[in-house]
Amino acid sequence: MPRLFVHFTFLLFAITAISGLWMRFYPFNPDTSLPYTNVMHGHSHLAILGWAFLGAFIIFLSIFWKTIRQKKQAKVVAIALFVTSFLMFGAFVYQGYGLYSIIMSSLHILVEYWAALFIYRELNGQLGIPKPGKYFINGSLLALVISSIGPFSLGVIAANGLRDSYVFDMAIYFYLHFQYNGWLYLFLIGLFIIVLHQKQIVFNHSLLIAGFWIYFLSLFPGYYLSVLWVELGGHSQVLATIGGIGQWIGVFGVIIAFKGIWVRLYRKFHDVTVICLWITFFLLIVKSTMELGLISPTMASLVYETRSVIIGYLHFSLLGFVSTFILTQFQLIGIINMRNHLMQAGFLIFFIGFALNELFLFGNGFAQWCGFSSIPFISHGLLGASVLMVISIAIIWISFIITRKNESVSIN
Ligand code: HEM
Repeated sequence: MPRLFVHFTFLLFAITAISGLWMRFYPFNPDTSLPYTNVMHGHSHLAILGWAFLGAFIIFLSIFWKTIRQKKQAKVVAIALFVTSFLMFGAFVYQGYGLYSIIMSSLHILVEYWAALFIYRELNGQLGIPKPGKYFINGSLLALVISSIGPFSLGVIAANGLRDSYVFDMAIYFYLHFQYNGWLYLFLIGLFIIVLHQKQIVFNHSLLIAGFWIYFLSLFPGYYLSVLWVELGGHSQVLATIGGIGQWIGVFGVIIAFKGIWVRLYRKFHDVTVICLWITFFLLIVKSTMELGLISPTMASLVYETRSVIIGYLHFSLLGFVSTFILTQFQLIGIINMRNHLMQAGFLIFFIGFALNELFLFGNGFAQWCGFSSIPFISHGLLGASVLMVISIAIIWISFIITRKNESVSIN
């Protein structure tokens, strides 16, 4: 697979981090001519639809590159994903929600459909794919298509003059839920299953399939967990409870199914790679347990009323679990070489920056719950954590660049 695609991915990750840093610098320079919300919309769209989407797609291409039948199409899809994400970011920064950004995000959705069709066709044409891997990937593609109902309905909602109503936010949460709890979670677990299978590492197939079904069916009522702040009646609390418990059991099924892989992993991969995988699964357990906690109405209202807790949770899931899983799978399939000390330093700084970011965001939320205004020097702390993350991404990218081409091998 062309190395250029990996550069595309790192570029999108770097722009995500730099725009995040810009927002963290904003309290120190609020007179800038660039509106904060424009950068925020650009940042969140680029992060999920650019960095995370392309990163996951690149793992898929890398795993199957030798046997992919439509290589030319694969390249065009990757380039289209990169270009539309990049232009969409520019459009959001330029005008916020407006004509160009809506055109670009609609175009991106069309490219997502194309990517989903491409993955579906290629996956189902491959031989020897383990059944649970197929379940997870096909389920993820369905969740991806379902998620797009959210942004499409935003247009209808806005056209009916409901831009400032709770329905608008419900559509955004619908989209986010099916993107990261649906598409990204299921796709990344599906890819991981295939990587393990190709490396001849044994895992429990039937438990994975059970975990898939429980999680996938719970994903639909699980949406109600994200909108418990809206008064939708008693049934929404019941559905949220079913969804929350089901998703949690599904995740634990998957983790138990992987119980036996660790010894084999230590034998086949660098210790740092296995540590990154431990961190990934630790983040997954904490993320799922936090979501389970939302079943309690008191907890849910506390969370939804505290911006720093919502942002902390979103970054715990997306910057923590999703991004670490992508970077770890880059290691597993040989895109990233962990024998390189600079690369190891990059990961260490990334985890320190991430941990500080979460500590400040959740710490600030906790302080507010206890009746204080904010923790002292919170803006400085968050700025420092963002600087560390930008530096770490630059280091990881630079060490990828300087790793000789022949050292970085594809899985096939
Ligand atoms: C790499 C370092 C990153 C930094 C420094 C950063 C920083 C920020 C900041 C400052 C905000 C706005 C918070 C507020 O206004 O209260 C934000 C929002 C957000 N970020 Fe990040 N972020 C980073 C990475 C990511 C990644 C990797 C993702 C997803 C894959 C992501 C997804 C989001 C989302 C979904 C929002 C919410 C926007 C909204 O409320 O509309 N961020 N981020």
